[in-house]
Amino acid sequence: MIWRLLLLSAGALAQDSCPPWCAKFACDGSTWCQKGEKPAPCVHCGDGGEAKGVSCFKESCADVGGDCCAPPQLNEAMKCTNGLHPVRLHTDCFNFKGASYTCCGSLPTTTLSNGVEMPKVILGAGGSTWMNVDKTDLMVYNALKHGGFRAVDTANHYRNHEGVARGIRSARRDGYEGEVWLQTKVEGCGNSKDPRSPVLQGHCYEHTLARLHDDLRQLQVDRVDLALLHAPPCVPGAACEMVQQQWKALEAAYAQGKARAIGVSNYCSACLQCLMRVATVTPHVNQIQLHAGMGSADPGGLVEYTLGLGAKIQAYRPLGQGRLMSSSTVHDIANAHGKSPAQVAVKWVVQQGHTAVTTTESIEHMRSNLDVFDWDLSSAEMSKLSNMAPPGQLDNVVGELCVL
Ligand SMILES: NC(=O)c1ccc[n+]([C@@H]2O[C@H](COP(=O)([O-])OP(=O)(O)OC[C@H]3O[C@@H](n4cnc5c(N)ncnc54)[C@H](OP(=O)(O)O)[C@@H]3O)[C@@H](O)[C@H]2O)c1
Repeated sequence: MIWRLLLLSAGALAQDSCPPWCAKFACDGSTWCQKGEKPAPCVHCGDGGEAKGVSCFKESCADVGGDCCAPPQLNEAMKCTNGLHPVRLHTDCFNFKGASYTCCGSLPTTTLSNGVEMPKVILGAGGSTWMNVDKTDLMVYNALKHGGFRAVDTANHYRNHEGVARGIRSARRDGYEGEVWLQTKVEGCGNSKDPRSPVLQGHCYEHTLARLHDDLRQLQVDRVDLALLHAPPCVPGAACEMVQQQWKALEAAYAQGKARAIGVSNYCSACLQCLMRVATVTPHVNQIQLHAGMGSADPGGLVEYTLGLGAKIQAYRPLGQGRLMSSSTVHDIANAHGKSPAQVAVKWVVQQGHTAVTTTESIEHMRSNLDVFDWDLSSAEMSKLSNMAPPGQLDNVVGELCVL
């Protein structure tokens, strides 16, 4: 009967203001409680729950376990029911949807144009673990089991799919029960330095499908959450045709259920224009290098162009490959908030509504990189970070990489 008491306490909370550790309640698709605001009435509950005045809780917690019905016990010093470190991420706090319920380790998501929910911070496997299966295995294991992450970005080009698969498997074996968002990338046709890769003009469609199937096999999954084209083909003269063939291949894989969402990476506006001429599915994501210190929040206008299509931005290298850690501007802003420079850098990305793809092998850094959702940068700080000088030499900037 403890859950009845807890529901009563939660109901009492709802009538005053929302609990401070929870950003919102979701009820049948509508938000009824915003942090610091009075809750709005909610008369119908999804998931078979019943409306309880203004609250929407399930009648029974049998399927979620007693602890899951204990939101009032969760606070800044909460102990996690799922064994994760208590990162203060709040969007799912009162989500009474089975065992995934917890205030700890549940990551805020953004909704793609096809309705799929994509985590807002993703662990990249393309940094120091590049081409190193054992290091990748350990990083992914630590990220899921101890670091609070539940999303991994990899690529055919990183040559570490086996490590990603091993890391996920061993985390699960050791009790990790949460979801894993898994995304990978197929190289641009003709871009591979792999000697096995033929010159692909004319065979780009088949090559793209074959590579993606190979990736799924290596990752030991039937489908990924997101499949991306890693970069536009660097084949002057033929690039647009290859872009179109690659995109048709990803669309086919999407239709076959091999990916829950599809997108591109390092695609400039001209590349997207070329793709859109044949697309029946608009890319859900464009993953580009984007971080504070690029002289603008939207270098070259690509962010606006991408968002205008209805695609989301995934910002890779949100810490400028670690270079932002030595920026005095970033340090000053971090000190003003009692946060670390890395947190400020990640915050600059997510506060704009983008997703950050960042790498670290350190569990401590993983945890702190996720702890960016219950505080805000001021608009003056945001523009200072946008406009500041680049932290050292930038490479891979979209536009310079594109050949269309
Ligand atoms: N699509 C593409 O073409 C493309 C290109 C590049 C990257 N990516 C993706 O983006 C991911 C991230 O890129 P990235 O690794 O180049 O850059 P990043 O995430 O901006 O920076 C990573 C560096 O920051 C350090 N770091 C991380 N968290 C920190 C913290 N809390 N405090 C201090 N230092 C911290 C890491 O060192 P420690 O290990 O010491 O923490 C590492 O040296 C890649 O792994 C890959 O998945 C995609």
